[in-house]
Amino acid sequence: MQNQTSGKSSDQGGSATERFSSSGFILTAIGSAVGLGNMWKFPYITGKYGGAAFFLLFIICLLVVGLPVLLAELAIGRGGRGNASTSFIRLSKSKYWGGFGFLSIFGAFMILSFYSVVAGWTIHYAIISFSNVLFQDADYTHRFTSFAASGMPVLWQVAVMAITGAVVAKGVSGGIEKFNKILIPGMLVLLIVLIVRSVTLPGAMAGVEFFLKPDFSKLTTESVLVALGHAFFSLSLGMGTMLTYGSYVERRQSLGQAAAAVGAGDLLYALIAGLIIFPTSFAFGIEPSQGAGLVFMALPAAFSAMPLGGVFGGLFFILLAIAALTSTVSLLEVPVAYAMDKWRLSRNKAALWTTVLCCIVGVPSALSVGGAFSGFTIAGKSFFDFVDFVASNIILPVGGLIVTIFTGYVWKKAGEEAGLTNGMFKLWMFVIRYIAPVLVILIFLYSSGIISGGEYGK
Ligand code: PFF
Repeated sequence: MQNQTSGKSSDQGGSATERFSSSGFILTAIGSAVGLGNMWKFPYITGKYGGAAFFLLFIICLLVVGLPVLLAELAIGRGGRGNASTSFIRLSKSKYWGGFGFLSIFGAFMILSFYSVVAGWTIHYAIISFSNVLFQDADYTHRFTSFAASGMPVLWQVAVMAITGAVVAKGVSGGIEKFNKILIPGMLVLLIVLIVRSVTLPGAMAGVEFFLKPDFSKLTTESVLVALGHAFFSLSLGMGTMLTYGSYVERRQSLGQAAAAVGAGDLLYALIAGLIIFPTSFAFGIEPSQGAGLVFMALPAAFSAMPLGGVFGGLFFILLAIAALTSTVSLLEVPVAYAMDKWRLSRNKAALWTTVLCCIVGVPSALSVGGAFSGFTIAGKSFFDFVDFVASNIILPVGGLIVTIFTGYVWKKAGEEAGLTNGMFKLWMFVIRYIAPVLVILIFLYSSGIISGGEYGK
């Protein structure tokens, strides 16, 4: 892996001396936000928790809580100009806050260890779809379970981590920003091709209606909590990613505008993902509420039945892979930035070691969905589910809570960094101080299973 950080970057630790360009930063932050959460999780939880009414709820959560917390994370990063731990220390002058920040670094690493496994599945599926191997046997559930039970997911996870590590090693502007600047617009092109295909299928309109015509009687309290939790996951909050990216943002960049653009981008990609998946599902009589298997086990049946299905299926899975990779890059940057500062490592070395470590920690996850580790459980969950549970349902909301409390009550200069007008600042502070913490605590109580219902997104 080669280091080519440009401009003010350095190879000797001190991660936050590197900078994004303005448009590059927004695309890169959108790249982090748009991921498997939009393309894989969002459709099946929307199917499960209320269709269009759930989508509306998700939009409200994104606007009311997601964006203010996103702005807070970006501001902490730029204000502190450090990694997800040292930024807190610099702004509060207290080591304790560094410990809280470290929790989210650990969370990012844990998410990456299993998220990269699912990203690996998408690359495998893209290949077998293009080659039509996917359609040789119409039992798609069996195909998925036998793939997951083999050793192959480990290889694909390592491939995903190798790409991610190589991009991160090339630095903020020369690697991460460049990668996103090419792939995010590329993704939009793929999305448009696929949307045209899906909404022109016979019977597709029932899917469009399911996704866009709200029926509020379908909503439950659970839907609200799931929507809130997903707004956090989808905007990559609580894991130090937006904070770390924020540390590379130029002073002249308006963080309020950036947060709004990232929120809009995330929403747009969720909307388009829904407009691909629901019409396709309805056109082929697939139940959209069937859960995590929707994309890997149900949609292949739809692709097999349409003309040029292998190509459309392949493009669809490539899209998922791109969305996933731009997010894995953001997740890896969090521990890499930390390792560079903490151990004065060069970017290359930090990227190499965190990548290797993540591959190792990812092995049991890759082998626990029916594979060699499937008999190994922790607290009644497979390794994969356990890591997902701890990272997504415990560390993520706790990380979000830390950000809101820090911005609302500890860091006195948050307003200056955020650069909002007086009225907007007051509104922001109101949400950050009084609304967001309460809602984040509710997500935590719900998603950790302390209040009924269990975890979200499952
Ligand atoms: N936002 C990403 C998605 O929707 O897939 C997932 C994610 C990335 C979550 C980075 C958290 C994070 F820190």
